[in-house]
Amino acid sequence: MCGIVGYYTFNVRKDLQSVLDILFNGLKRLEYRGYDSAGIAFDVVDAYPLVHQADGREAIVEENGVFESTGPLIIKEVGKVDALERMAYDTVARDQLDLQREYRSQVGIAHTRWATHGPPSAVNSHPIPSDPEAQFVVVHNGIITNYNLIKDFLIKHGETFVTETDTEVIPKLCKFVYERLSEKVPFPKLVMEVLKKLEGAYAVLVKSTHYPGELVACKRGSPMILGIKEDANVRRTSFNRLHDARDIKWRQESIECYIASDASAVIEHTKRVIVLEDNDVLHLCGGGYGIYNTEGANVEEAVPRVLLTLQLEVEQIMKGGYDHFMQKEIHEQPESLLQTMRGRVQFQRPAVGNPYLTPRVKLGGLVEHGATVRRCRRIMLVACGTSFHACLAARKTLEEMCEVPVMLELASDFLDRRCPIFRDDTCVFLSQSGETADTLRSLEYAKAHGALCLGITNTVGSAISRMTHCGVHLNAGYEIGVASTKAYTSQILAVTMMALQLAEDSISKRDRRDSIIDELGQLPGKVRSTLMLDGAMKELAEELRNAHSLLFFGRGYNYATALEAALKAGYWGLHGACGAGLRPRCSLPTIKEVALIHSEGILAGEMKHGPLALVDEHLPIVVIATRDGMYKKMESVIQQLLARNAQLYIVCNENDEGMKQYESRGCKLIQASGKSLS
Ligand code: F6R
Repeated sequence: MCGIVGYYTFNVRKDLQSVLDILFNGLKRLEYRGYDSAGIAFDVVDAYPLVHQADGREAIVEENGVFESTGPLIIKEVGKVDALERMAYDTVARDQLDLQREYRSQVGIAHTRWATHGPPSAVNSHPIPSDPEAQFVVVHNGIITNYNLIKDFLIKHGETFVTETDTEVIPKLCKFVYERLSEKVPFPKLVMEVLKKLEGAYAVLVKSTHYPGELVACKRGSPMILGIKEDANVRRTSFNRLHDARDIKWRQESIECYIASDASAVIEHTKRVIVLEDNDVLHLCGGGYGIYNTEGANVEEAVPRVLLTLQLEVEQIMKGGYDHFMQKEIHEQPESLLQTMRGRVQFQRPAVGNPYLTPRVKLGGLVEHGATVRRCRRIMLVACGTSFHACLAARKTLEEMCEVPVMLELASDFLDRRCPIFRDDTCVFLSQSGETADTLRSLEYAKAHGALCLGITNTVGSAISRMTHCGVHLNAGYEIGVASTKAYTSQILAVTMMALQLAEDSISKRDRRDSIIDELGQLPGKVRSTLMLDGAMKELAEELRNAHSLLFFGRGYNYATALEAALKAGYWGLHGACGAGLRPRCSLPTIKEVALIHSEGILAGEMKHGPLALVDEHLPIVVIATRDGMYKKMESVIQQLLARNAQLYIVCNENDEGMKQYESRGCKLIQASGKSLS
């Protein structure tokens, strides 16, 4: 996953050492997302140097003064940020740059790259310049889908490409447009012209020697935030119009900004952030900033954006004694599940009065739209990856409680098919980040077709939470590990709570609803005891680490577990430990994503229709056979697999005598505490 860091200052004295520290620390905060190469570009001349006036005071040189515009120093390398940092200091020493020299203005950009177009190499890494003079320099997250067309066009006009990336078309197009201007336009205007030609998803930072001391950021379908560090007493306002940036009044201000693809690179500097929206173009210039939107009625008028205060502490983005963020987040599940329910679930059964007058689950965001959802033609759950698995795990409960057809949609397929949507549909979009491009595009599509759109995300202020009519925040806490873990269990929980709330008026569902709520009360404790199997899971991981392939069989709620376990591993399918399809995960490495072992999750009911042919004594298979409505059917699956000498790992309830008999036949049991819901 790529990461972007930008650092912009005006009228704030910062020496080069501090600038480099900020850029490298930002990159290190993004390392958890994975990358294969990295790079930075920073100014080595001051765009706004100070002059000493006759009266002894200092002033900033204005546009009509001396204006240096040498290209930035760009340093890029394959491998870790630490190695890049060493290389940067070597280069600084070689070029005899003074680390203590103070700059009045700095525009630094940095990037961690996960190769998509062209292999990891220094040249393919970002920042990518337009030419050897680095007239325009760009860092980019996302994919420009029409880059080949643009590349051909630019080659025909004499450009030569040095990288294999899709990104290189952006700085080259900036230069191409700039060279053909009849008169110089403001920097964001130039970038807007370039954006008109780009298709795909992006979050981009651009700096230029033609616009020294300025930075432009833009995004579509890839997240980007602006953090503003300011004096507590200063209320920061933005430019009203594009041309305000020229106004000398801003030169009296000072500003320090952090731009990043992820809040974790900003939080240690400031909590005051603006979340950029799709098609926003941010301009940092002089002492101010302006945000414009290319889809707005007047692209030269600034659009209002709320300055939020992040509810995130630095400790939350630290590993807190764990080796990995993923491990930490797995162990946070008892607390994250509690947070998802906090203030929303009434665990005590009402002792007196009419039980129907006392709602036991209250998701504030759904209250207003509950009646519409209950009356809808169908509920469609739309998501990608792990979030999709959460939909699958919770579907049964939603169907059962609401008695409305519930359809599951992978967001990319939903879009590819241009799935028919009706005005009386309810579409629920699940996304941990709230920014996943396919889910977001599906939301736009469903909204345009008149459906009621609900969002379930873990990120306050995310695009999905802003664009949906209503929704539920998971409150699971910041998830840094790239492999989604605690958000998964909170997502299943959130959909379950939604189902319970929607069924609150139903007399026939009352007993079932009450028993699920009772189970939810015990959920954090059961997850906690399940996590104590951590050591056993590690041993199992050792045993399986050399497997070439793994299969997971599940059925009912545990079909989702099988799919998710194939993507990750954990406490495979401990449905028994938690109610209504919820299951905690432990610290086994993620199978596909992290351990890079081929693995498949298979619906056990489909076993006879193909997968059985793969089974032999060499293929490890995990069978999830907890004491739920599928138990008997899973026993039959085990019998059939053993008839083919399969190497079986059975996830079952603690002390399940029925399953214990298979130990004597060479099967390994993974026993989870707690009873199962059927
Ligand atoms: C797997 C994983 C991904 C995400 C998927 C959707 O561990 O994390 O499969 O679940 O990319 O992301 P969100 O939930 O942010 O929409």
